[in-house]
Amino acid sequence: MINLRLSSICCYLTGWLWLFSLPGWADNGEVEVLHWWTSTGETNAVHVLQQQVEQQGVHWKNFAVIGGGGESAMNVLEARVISGNPPTAAQLKSSEIRDWAALGFLNNLDPIAKTQHWDQLLPPTIANLLKYQGHYVAVPANIHRENWLWVNTHIFKAAGAKIPTTWDEFFTAAQKIKAAGYPVLVNGNQDWQNTTIFESIALGILGGKDYIRAFVQHDATVLTSDKMLKVFEIFQKVHQFVELPPQSDDWNQATNLVIHDKAAMQIMGDWAKSEFFIAGKQLDQDFDCVPVPETQHAFLFDTDSFSMFHLDNKANQKAQKILTRTIMDPEFQKRFNLAKGSIPIRNDIPLDAFDRCAVASRRAFNQARKTGQLAPSIAHGMATTMPEQKALFDVVNHFFNTPNADPKQAILRLNRATQAAQ
Ligand code: BGC
Repeated sequence: MINLRLSSICCYLTGWLWLFSLPGWADNGEVEVLHWWTSTGETNAVHVLQQQVEQQGVHWKNFAVIGGGGESAMNVLEARVISGNPPTAAQLKSSEIRDWAALGFLNNLDPIAKTQHWDQLLPPTIANLLKYQGHYVAVPANIHRENWLWVNTHIFKAAGAKIPTTWDEFFTAAQKIKAAGYPVLVNGNQDWQNTTIFESIALGILGGKDYIRAFVQHDATVLTSDKMLKVFEIFQKVHQFVELPPQSDDWNQATNLVIHDKAAMQIMGDWAKSEFFIAGKQLDQDFDCVPVPETQHAFLFDTDSFSMFHLDNKANQKAQKILTRTIMDPEFQKRFNLAKGSIPIRNDIPLDAFDRCAVASRRAFNQARKTGQLAPSIAHGMATTMPEQKALFDVVNHFFNTPNADPKQAILRLNRATQAAQ
């Protein structure tokens, strides 16, 4: 009897030990991850990260703050850190990475970067954005290309319009689409969405070198040049064809209109692509991805990365390390980017399973690196400090939303605001 009881206790214990030895059952702490990925495609991508860390015995606590571009998420983060309760990890853009690192809140990720050879794997332009005083303080998940034009092929056919490669062709197509009774270019009236259109036009007209001189180096000659004047003139003309999504200004509400044959185009980063696929739409047949006019050889980049906040809890420190390693892991990079619409940050990951927009994106990225046409997005915090970004947002939005605004005044305001924000 006693033997029987002992052996059943023994089996019971072995059972539990076995259970804890399964990857998902080890107790490797908890990660609370702050991000702003809340559209359907973005949520699928977050699930990939959640699954991969859970498989390693880490408990996942989701901390999603709605709002494309991440402004609301950053306000929430500030409140949490000020109250002495930072999340384990937060999605941060380069300007914010530097700010939080300078305040001394972020973990140094060099030891993991060294074992995973980040310096060899990451393009230097992007690696620099993840470092503070030469040390890694953020781990990158992907590269998004922002200068994409998403096109509804049915509407283009119905209107007899040609997919544009120049701004002249864009306005010809826009007239035809309008005459056929369709909304032309859908865009939520938010700072970062208006700036997405602005900076895509700017990259094409200025070229990579002058784009960087204007928006990274704040060169007054470029900021007030004739080319910059042309950027504002085109931006104003584009505005005549912009339609707001009726329900809300969220970028994915706008994308939905292009998906469901209710608008012809949207200018948006390639996170939009996932929404088309989830809605069952086929590339070529239902929609197309083409570079924004006159940016065929240029690449406006936006990288998503996570920083790890200092914590006292030892188990959660372990969880942070697992999270960091996972994000640069090849399997994660592949699965995550397939869901997210972006491309892996690691050039060594083959794109066999990816669609042709992703393949075109990597080709454009590698080419733009060589030709000086790789440019950081202002809208997504890659190019400037936060005050500089806000200054530009102000000028761009005011201009876009003011009927008959004067482009000559706009370039002067742009220069004044940019210089004052430094
Ligand atoms: C992020 C993307 C995200 C987009 C819209 C950007 O700032 O980099 O990952 O999908 O905002 O939410």
